[in-house]
Amino acid sequence: MARLLITGGAGFIGSHTALVLLEAGHELVVLDNYANSSPEALRRVLELAGPEAEGRLQVIEGDIRRSTDLDRAFAAGASPGAGVEAVIHFAGLKAVGESVAEPLRYWDVNVNGSQRLLAAMRAHGCRTVVFSSSATLYGYPEAVPIPESAPIRPINPYGHTKAAVEKMLSDVAASEAGWRIACLRYFNPVGAHPSGRIGEDPNGIPNNLFPFISQVAVGRREQVQVFGGDWPTSDGSGVRDYIHVMDLAEGHLAALNTLLAGGDQLLQLNLGSGHGHSVLEVIEAFGRACGRSIPHQITQRRSGDAAITVADPSEAKRQLGWQTRRNLHDICQDGWRWQHSNPGGYAT
Ligand code: NAD
Ligand code: UFG
Repeated sequence: MARLLITGGAGFIGSHTALVLLEAGHELVVLDNYANSSPEALRRVLELAGPEAEGRLQVIEGDIRRSTDLDRAFAAGASPGAGVEAVIHFAGLKAVGESVAEPLRYWDVNVNGSQRLLAAMRAHGCRTVVFSSSATLYGYPEAVPIPESAPIRPINPYGHTKAAVEKMLSDVAASEAGWRIACLRYFNPVGAHPSGRIGEDPNGIPNNLFPFISQVAVGRREQVQVFGGDWPTSDGSGVRDYIHVMDLAEGHLAALNTLLAGGDQLLQLNLGSGHGHSVLEVIEAFGRACGRSIPHQITQRRSGDAAITVADPSEAKRQLGWQTRRNLHDICQDGWRWQHSNPGGYAT
């Protein structure tokens, strides 16, 4: 059992990972400013984790850019005396379009925030960190499936900030002994915990396909716009590697175990399924899960999109002993259970 600091632990991926980590017996301190989440998510995580997790989750409302908040988080914990052994760093901003409009905010939260966090880690004698990176680093991939050795060529400010933090982490790893770092490059995280109690709850109009489809299914929106029907794919719509958020959460546990078991490390790994699904396939699969067809219309391509991004996940399997276990059917079943039992997200 380790004491862990989870930044951004109230968010979509953070809340599912917090549950998996509590179930694995760890003690957690979550630091979140609720910029894009609700405290209700963590209340439900505790409810799902049950009485065995009692006293093992402490929540601090605060900002990763503020050193006093970081100091409070490193000093907090369920059992006084032992320090934070590792950090799982989810906190950040993630909307591509918003990053184009507000690059300085993205560089501040994602890059400056990560720099502050790493400085606090050093000050508190913690040198183990799992970082939320993204397949967005690869930009327009030259070939699919994409291996980790593919060129890092992000095409928007959000991607630039992720590349900058990966660079910062590799500089830190090279600067002194003792660092154990995993940069996990997520492909397209979707779905929800099978209980339907926690899931993705985007603010406003969803930018991403999966929450948009589920909001159409529940009647909050009229129809899905399919961005392009003329891509060089089997049915003309874009292809992505959708990964169930519970598989992703388990990938974090596997990465943490690998870091804690070894010496100095700098891992840069894709977390994806290795399977691609088109937009139309996802719409069809979601329709089967919810028992009605999802209204949709093919429209113009969205600027900045690639035709196909699919992970080569073989390194994660080799180095972490982890691979996805859930498929598109599970993703849609679990995503629909969350959406129809919480039509307005955590507010309902
Ligand atoms: P999310 O927005 O649901 O979670 C991020 C959390 O960080 C939120 O709870 C938010 O309130 C918190 N936060 C934001 N700024 C903060 C700050 N300054 N201080 C403290 N907390 C702050 O997003 P998510 O989907 O769970 O993503 C988690 C991480 O994974 C992000 O770093 C994101 O860039 C990365 N990622 C996400 C995806 C995806 O498609 N969801 C894909 C690749 C990478
Ligand atoms: N799409 C539609 N209609 C929509 C939304 C999306 O047809 O309303 C299509 C897109 O064109 C694309 C696919 O659905 O072909 C997936 O789009 P998303 O917006 O859901 O996801 P992206 O692959 O564009 O990007 C996501 C995150 C990024 C992250 C990337 C890789 O938004 O932050 O996955 O992890 F970097």
